[in-house]
Amino acid sequence: MSTLITNIGEMVTNAPADGPGDGPGEFAVRTAAALVIDGGTIAWTGPAGRAPAADEIVDARGRAVLPGFVDSHAHLVFAGERGAEFAARMAGQPYTAGGITATVMATRAASDVTLRAGLRRLADEMLRQGTTTYECKSGYGLTVRDEARSLMLAAEITPEATYLGAHVVPPEFAGDTAGYLDLVCGPMLDACAPYARWIDVFCEDGAFGAGEAAAVLAAGQARGLLPRVHANQLGPGPGVRVAVQAGAASADHCTYLTAADVDLLASSGTVATLLPGVEFSCRQPYPDARRLLGAGVTVAIATDCNPGSCYTSSMALCVALAVREMGMTTGEAVWSATAGGARALRRADVGYLGAGARADVLMLDAPSHTYLAYRPGVPLTAAVWREGRLAVARPQILAG
Ligand code: NIG
Ligand code: FE
Repeated sequence: MSTLITNIGEMVTNAPADGPGDGPGEFAVRTAAALVIDGGTIAWTGPAGRAPAADEIVDARGRAVLPGFVDSHAHLVFAGERGAEFAARMAGQPYTAGGITATVMATRAASDVTLRAGLRRLADEMLRQGTTTYECKSGYGLTVRDEARSLMLAAEITPEATYLGAHVVPPEFAGDTAGYLDLVCGPMLDACAPYARWIDVFCEDGAFGAGEAAAVLAAGQARGLLPRVHANQLGPGPGVRVAVQAGAASADHCTYLTAADVDLLASSGTVATLLPGVEFSCRQPYPDARRLLGAGVTVAIATDCNPGSCYTSSMALCVALAVREMGMTTGEAVWSATAGGARALRRADVGYLGAGARADVLMLDAPSHTYLAYRPGVPLTAAVWREGRLAVARPQILAG
């Protein structure tokens, strides 16, 4: 079954520089475009006037088409909510990550059915907003049983499941960080590794220090997991250095960076993943995206969707914040939310629209990608194809 989407006003391609299989290239758009989906992949892209025949035709009527968003940082397995904590922050309380424990208690008390329902609700919410690839972390269980079941549930919906047993030290291990890390790097890792692709650690004052974080990543790598790090969120610290030294795919947050951190990122293969929804929701200063881009660092944008520091699943909001508050151009922000996310997840099949890519396609009810920032807060999703399957469509879109 093949589908031709034609009369695309603007298609964001991010096409690979060296042809199919290389993953996304630079930000690039093509006007008056068309693409063909065949099965689960993109078979052809090019000028609308030269489009080949297909089994069915969708007339985009001048709308913009983008690669589906790649949200490379999300915490979706949890129970409960922390709206009161958010309200207190807006009344002047600082964010300290202390609320994580409340979510841990609620998550431990929840049934698998409840956790799965919450996870699937958020995954569906993401898809309806054009996110076709997402990472999902554990980290609200913090027992062998609760971390393992969090990852088992995450692995049901995404191949990008991340073991975050080293989120914080849970209350029953208060004062015994070493004891908790023995669990994280021992029996908990044994139980979780079969379900996970990634290992993550929260390297921050109040969570884990440099040596502890490096040991957690090394233990995960010894079991075949790939490292990524929560780094430099609440203040300057060793997180970025630990991430780069471990060869992490990504250092996430990067809100407080020294010149040395920026140099390290620039000279490494580690992506800086910025999470502007966190700064919005915690009323904190935004990271300096221009400084990173100016130094040649690869920048991704993700939501960090979680019940504490940032409870949005909207990549469009994060794009708008990146443009308005972090000085990124609309093209840079959209690249970071698609191709950048793919780089942060080491995925060569998503984040671009070109022959051979997975057919993850977002059609906007707007003529250009710019509208994601130009019309903030407006639901612009017209249709979403995921692996070639039409997953979301406004009724009037396909009626012609
Ligand atoms: O990415 N920084 C640590 N973890 C999450 C927040 C978790 C929470 O507050 O529940 C984050 O911001
Ligand atoms: Fe996070």
